[in-house]
Amino acid sequence: MTNIVVVGAQFGDEGKGKIVDILTETSDIICRYQGGANAGHTVIVGKDKYILHLIPSGILRKDKMCVIGNGVVIDPEALIEEIKYLEARDISVKNLMISESAHIIFPYHKLIDQLSEKAAENNDKNCKTGTENTSTKIGTTGRGIGPAYTDKAARKGIRAIDLLDDEVFKQKLKANVDEKIKVLKALYNASDSELKNAEFNSVYKKYTEYAKILKPFISNTTTYLNNAIKSGKKILFEGAQGSLLDIDHGTYPFVTSSNATVGGVCTGLGISPHKVNKILGIVKAYTTRVGSGPFPTEFDAKMSEKIREIGDEYGATTRRPRRCGWFDAFLLKHSVMINGLDSIAITKLDILDSLDKIKICVGYRYKDKQDKNKDNKDNSNNKSVGRLLDSFPAACKVLENVEPVYEELPGWKEKTSGIKDFNKLPKNAKAYLKRIEELTSVKISIISVGAERTQTMFVD
Ligand code: GDP
Ligand code: IMO
Ligand code: MG
Repeated sequence: MTNIVVVGAQFGDEGKGKIVDILTETSDIICRYQGGANAGHTVIVGKDKYILHLIPSGILRKDKMCVIGNGVVIDPEALIEEIKYLEARDISVKNLMISESAHIIFPYHKLIDQLSEKAAENNDKNCKTGTENTSTKIGTTGRGIGPAYTDKAARKGIRAIDLLDDEVFKQKLKANVDEKIKVLKALYNASDSELKNAEFNSVYKKYTEYAKILKPFISNTTTYLNNAIKSGKKILFEGAQGSLLDIDHGTYPFVTSSNATVGGVCTGLGISPHKVNKILGIVKAYTTRVGSGPFPTEFDAKMSEKIREIGDEYGATTRRPRRCGWFDAFLLKHSVMINGLDSIAITKLDILDSLDKIKICVGYRYKDKQDKNKDNKDNSNNKSVGRLLDSFPAACKVLENVEPVYEELPGWKEKTSGIKDFNKLPKNAKAYLKRIEELTSVKISIISVGAERTQTMFVD
């Protein structure tokens, strides 16, 4: 029995879908435990490409059970669309289970998400730094994730089980719609046409239809999973987003609204930490980020574009261009610590094949007010270079102003996408990987050099 967590170790889009798909082969049950349809997990099977948003990537392999846990926020419209998308491609969803305790996303959540981002954008234009503003534009996916988790925490949310009880559903929906319409009008100037989809009659009608479709999938997944673990089934926990987008440990407020780190597994499924046997971090061989927020190792525009084109770095959910940057070992060390990663999978190594030189960030320097005052007093013209930080900073203001310290390594200038054996990797590629292990004190157990299942190497 080995129950493995697959967790994004950077800012999301590390290639979790691909690695989950591979590990599914030797698992029995695959579970999503947090996030929602903000996720976009790509799996390539031969000539076919699948993008999963809510359903665990394990669904692509026959006879595996797939669970959407209580920690996930479910947009029924997106879920039904995904079910239809899979069925149209002859992928059966008969093994899908949805937790009765999972919270449901409604049209008003999506509207609040989208309009609050719009309002924040206008506000940001008049604000100097943006980060200290209470209504900062996060660059969300607009899928209603934040507002749905807000309702959950405020104990106003509507859960999957509520959809199955007409009386309860009607009453809860009425209270929510009344409140949300007021908020949408007062705070976000929502127009009548925008509000039309969020009104009670329209939502009630649509969601009672959705409930009929989803009813067969909804059950007590917590009991099911704990019994399955007891009987020796192997569970794979599929994380969404990335550790630096975690609401507690990420670059707050530029984060998502759930615990994308390993802790989310226990609360998001009702499983004891005793049942988690291995924690695998998924790490891109460089760094990307979608949306706003600090990104110390971000490339300049020209280099960013180059890597974006080679690596096809466009969001799987929104198709937004991803921001790209050098590998950040200091950030990964933080991720290794908060997740207790046992090992990591390095993905997209092939994207670096053409580079002459490759940089790794080994630390951050930060010049605080005291240093700056000292410079002024010394009249030394910014002589001091700032102190090296000993831990990943919590304040965005600090993170936005750190200066990354780089080590430069020679590139390998060789195609790696066809290599099947770790020992056959170019010498400089092996040196790059070894340096990552040394700097982060974590072992690399998987190396990926292409999107396909076969372009994967297991170390040991
Ligand atoms: P996820 O959200 O973590 O599952 O990652 P995404 O699917 O959003 O983005 C990762 C992208 O990289 C997808 O298009 C994958 O097909 C692709 N990919 C994964 N591993 C590799 C790799 O080793 N090399 C290349 N070239 N592409 C990869
Ligand atoms: P996967 O699972 C990358 C980002 C958004 C935004 C922030 C908050 O594919 O790795 P949200 O809609 O969650 O309120 O947006 O989080 N974000 C992701 N970035 N990959 C994801 O998922 C993401 N899910 C959310 O771009 O910056
Ligand atoms: Mg993704």
